[in-house]
Amino acid sequence: MQTGRFVDLIHKKKEGKPLERQEIRNMVSRYAAGEIPDYQMSAMLMAICFQGMDDEELTALTLAMRDSGDTADLSGIPGIKVDKHSTGGVGDKTTLIVGPLVAACGVPVAKMSGRGLGFTGGTLDKLESIPGFRIDLTEEEFFRAVRSAGISVIGQTRNLAPADKKLYALRDVTGTVESIPLIASSIMSKKLAAGSDKILLDVTTGSGAFIKDLEQSRELARRMVAIGKGAGRETAAMLTSMEEPLGNAVGNTLEVIEAIETLRAGGPEDLREVCLALAGMMLSLGKEGISYEEGRKLAEETLDSGAAYRKFVEMVEGQGGDSAYIEDPDMFQRAACKRELTVREEGYISRMDTERIGIAAGILGAGRETKESVIDYSAGIIMKKKIGDRVRCGDVMAVLYSSSEEKLERAEQCMQNSYTVSDLRPEPLKLVVDIIR
Ligand code: URA
Repeated sequence: MQTGRFVDLIHKKKEGKPLERQEIRNMVSRYAAGEIPDYQMSAMLMAICFQGMDDEELTALTLAMRDSGDTADLSGIPGIKVDKHSTGGVGDKTTLIVGPLVAACGVPVAKMSGRGLGFTGGTLDKLESIPGFRIDLTEEEFFRAVRSAGISVIGQTRNLAPADKKLYALRDVTGTVESIPLIASSIMSKKLAAGSDKILLDVTTGSGAFIKDLEQSRELARRMVAIGKGAGRETAAMLTSMEEPLGNAVGNTLEVIEAIETLRAGGPEDLREVCLALAGMMLSLGKEGISYEEGRKLAEETLDSGAAYRKFVEMVEGQGGDSAYIEDPDMFQRAACKRELTVREEGYISRMDTERIGIAAGILGAGRETKESVIDYSAGIIMKKKIGDRVRCGDVMAVLYSSSEEKLERAEQCMQNSYTVSDLRPEPLKLVVDIIR
């Protein structure tokens, strides 16, 4: 029955019937324009949570959200532009390494990144911990930076997918965040609006990811790749493990320093491995006739040659950052207080509650408790043990950094049950769990 009443559309979804493309477009544009009240939209979101959406509905929803605001036109920048998006994690500093690495291999990176969300960190906060670094370049400056350095990472422009912004805020307070179609359309609407030719999605899975269950993460990846296909934008997804923090550092300055070490061909092995895999996939998307394996090999050679590190320095300087800090990371301000967290048992570290570690980093000052909170860039955690390590009573598990003893106390309590010690050595973690193209 075509009544034009929004309540009938809610009924339709509630009964599990698919919505038409035009119905979805009207819904999104009318909601963005303030013509559908939040209480009706909340009911629709809840119906979508329970009934799901097929691929056609999902593509229609994503495109309607993309079209609710500006879309970036990157056609003025020569080459195949490849974007990368992570669904979030703890210690995830891959963009700082993979971006310059891919750019050093000749694939331009014009990236709009986000801030920390919940217990996860955000690339923009990390970049802003470099003194002088500007994430608010004008469009002209952004284009100029990508043309000259081959890379620029900035904040999302204000009018990118505004319908998503409004819907996201509503989902946040109506228990409708954890819905695969809603997450997939939210992420992909912004990625499609950001204008790159191809998209690589790093879909994290495990205790430090938003979606912890592997099959659900795989489903999210599949749905986003299908949206990319429906929108005519080649999209690949890599499922990566977030069963423990990536690398050893969690917290803005600490992560930048770890990224610098990795760009100088050092750094923790797990971080290096995930970065090479992501870069390999981005190169296979951005360079004609290159396989993933060839891309990974090229990425490894480029990382070890120092070219990615030099590209990072160029990017920092191009965005107003003081590269003296990159050349000499000892210049970064260090936290006033620190505390060691020690192990109380003997055995092997077999599991981590990575979300808890992310929350502890937030308590130390590395994240925001409210929208207005000011981040303490030097706060965070250095993990001294990871899954599979043998430990003895009294070994240092992690070092916590903060500006006050009170925060150290609270974070230490939060961290107490963040890992499990077992007698048996666990199986090594698979870092790249799956690839979906
Ligand atoms: N990130 C987004 O941009 N949207 C979601 O819904 C979840 C994570």
